[in-house]
Amino acid sequence: MPATRPSLRVRTALEQDMSDIVLLDREVFPDLPYPYFVLRQLLDAFKEHMFVVHDGDRLCGYVLATPPSEGQSWILTLGVAPGMRHRGLGRQLMREALDRLRAEGARTARLGVRPENVTAIRLYISLGFAPDPGGPRSDYFGPGEDRLLMTLAL
Ligand SMILES: CC(C)(COP(=O)(O)OP(=O)(O)OC[C@H]1O[C@@H](n2cnc3c(N)ncnc32)[C@H](O)[C@@H]1OP(=O)(O)O)[C@@H](O)C(=O)NCCC(=O)NCCS
Repeated sequence: MPATRPSLRVRTALEQDMSDIVLLDREVFPDLPYPYFVLRQLLDAFKEHMFVVHDGDRLCGYVLATPPSEGQSWILTLGVAPGMRHRGLGRQLMREALDRLRAEGARTARLGVRPENVTAIRLYISLGFAPDPGGPRSDYFGPGEDRLLMTLAL
């Protein structure tokens, strides 16, 4: 695996990242991107919980978590540009978000992932997430959109 370059630093998202995040979200999730207005509202509401990473001028990764509520947070989305994968950026983004949640007193982090998304599931397991024992939930995100829910004890 190529080493992560020192110039690739994770930071919290800024207002001016909005259009780049929209473009990256469409590239990463071409069949189910967030509508622009949803991403705008997520950025407004959870700016401190959205982290991005740049390669030079180009935004190449992002992760979004919710602030803890009754000790529980959700990782809402994670994406790395196709040409920048397998360099540890996904892991780095997740660690940054999880560190923030821990510091804020979250006790658990939850997420939903497509059951066939082996790459993401391996990443989450390596970070300590465990799949719900009942297996994937059918139609969790609507018809045909099953999701495996996973939990990490922080
Ligand atoms: C999932 C995703 C964010 C991972 O990003 P990434 O930057 O490539 O991940 P990393 O380089 O940090 O890899 C972390 C681990 O994931 C696993 N992994 C990564 N690529 C893998 C592959 N091709 N096959 C198997 N496991 C893989 C490995 O366990 C890897 O550990 P390693 O660092 O020891 O190799 C990226 O593939 C992506 O954006 N996918 C499309 C969007 C998506 O599925 N998001 C998650 C939705 S829940």
